Amino acid sequence: MDFASRRKRFVSQIDAPVLLMAGGFLSRNYPANTFPYRADSTFLYFFERPEPGSAAFFDPASGKVTLFLAERTVADALWHGALEPFEAVKARQQIDAVLPVEELEQHVTAFANGRQIRSLAVADWKATKRARAITGEGLDFDDPEKSGDGPLRELIARLRLHKGADELAEIRRLVPVTREAHLAAMAHSKPGVSEQFLAGQVEGAFGRGACVPAYGTILSVRGEVLHNHDHRNVLQKGDIVLLDAGAEGIDSGYCNDVTRDWPVGGAFSPEGRDIYDLVLASELDAISAVKPGMRYRDLHLRASRVLADGLVRIGLLKGNADGLVESGAHAVFFPHGLGHQLGLDVHDLETFGDRIHYPNGRTRSKQFGTQYLRMDLDLAEGMVFTIEPGLYFVPQIINDPKFREQFATQVNWALAEKFLAMNGGRGFGGIRIEDDIACTATGAEVLTHSIPKVRSEIEALVGTA
Ligand code: GLY
Ligand code: MN
Ligand code: MN
Repeated sequence: MDFASRRKRFVSQIDAPVLLMAGGFLSRNYPANTFPYRADSTFLYFFERPEPGSAAFFDPASGKVTLFLAERTVADALWHGALEPFEAVKARQQIDAVLPVEELEQHVTAFANGRQIRSLAVADWKATKRARAITGEGLDFDDPEKSGDGPLRELIARLRLHKGADELAEIRRLVPVTREAHLAAMAHSKPGVSEQFLAGQVEGAFGRGACVPAYGTILSVRGEVLHNHDHRNVLQKGDIVLLDAGAEGIDSGYCNDVTRDWPVGGAFSPEGRDIYDLVLASELDAISAVKPGMRYRDLHLRASRVLADGLVRIGLLKGNADGLVESGAHAVFFPHGLGHQLGLDVHDLETFGDRIHYPNGRTRSKQFGTQYLRMDLDLAEGMVFTIEPGLYFVPQIINDPKFREQFATQVNWALAEKFLAMNGGRGFGGIRIEDDIACTATGAEVLTHSIPKVRSEIEALVGTA
């Protein structure tokens, strides 16, 4: 990655000084027992292997970038290992100056010399608090509209949304590791095996590939719980395992985000086959429609229509695809958006809010399901995003009197109930198929194409360990 060029491009485009915080260690229970450190994604975009607790000051007047690092102490060397001397970091990072982060406030106040400093909220609340005190901005990481000055967010998004060849190469480099994780979980899936054991296979594969999980592993026989991080179930014959997991490069921070599903015990039931093939058909159709200029919401609606059409054939919906999607009836079974941007964040730049993902006055739909669509951008060459349709049988949706009334004639509720009752009363669950896509000059590159998703191929891999 050419970090120096990225910084140069950025500092030449800002009109006020910018202070960025890397963030540091956050405690898991008592202060010294911390979660693994992961730098803020924008900081990772500009610096190689950022140190915890570091900060950076970008000055448009001089074009200079100053990096602030923790003072090197004997105690730190003893407990955590010696760090590179400031001069070595300065040379490696090609930085104009390196100063102690303990003196951040006094230095940046002097550098700014009365100019308003802009900053960004980061996941580490202590770093955000410090940036808030220095800049006087009302930064709040949990509120996208307070994650930073609007034009600053837009500028950073313009840089980060369009991936260069180096970023695409890094995302591709991770795919064999993500593939190994999915194949290991498929191979070890047998009746009597716990979800937690499979999650261990997944995360072990990430470690063997010198990666970490890009997000909390979603692995469950309760695939209808969209982001199920609870791994307490034991697999039974007839269950469908949904695995949504992706590797993250330990140095780069770039990631994958992939979902696959498979039947416990070897083969899908007839209903499982129908639903699986329909989700895959809608995924492949959406991928085939990717090209520069394609509006992402239209891609979402297109996938929704393919799903609705298939659900009519299966008998779960009644009517025609256009009418069903217009009314939102399809969302009883497809209650989320088609996907999101991907890069240094799994949901890339989500902290910057809809100002980035719904540009040009576009706004979120108010309709159930489509309201969860995380972006409505026109696709452009270099954008990387997911395509991840799914179909789910969620008891709380299917038994909701409001939906029953709203879609009384469009949903075959009796058949939906049968899906809830099948598999020995445990229910059908859910199926999602997710790949990482790069928009090219003419269409789509499926970055994660090597991870099997053809049904017969998947079935042949299950339980082979
Ligand atoms: N892995 C979370 C998602 O697919 O959005
Ligand atoms: Mn995703
Ligand atoms: Mn995912």
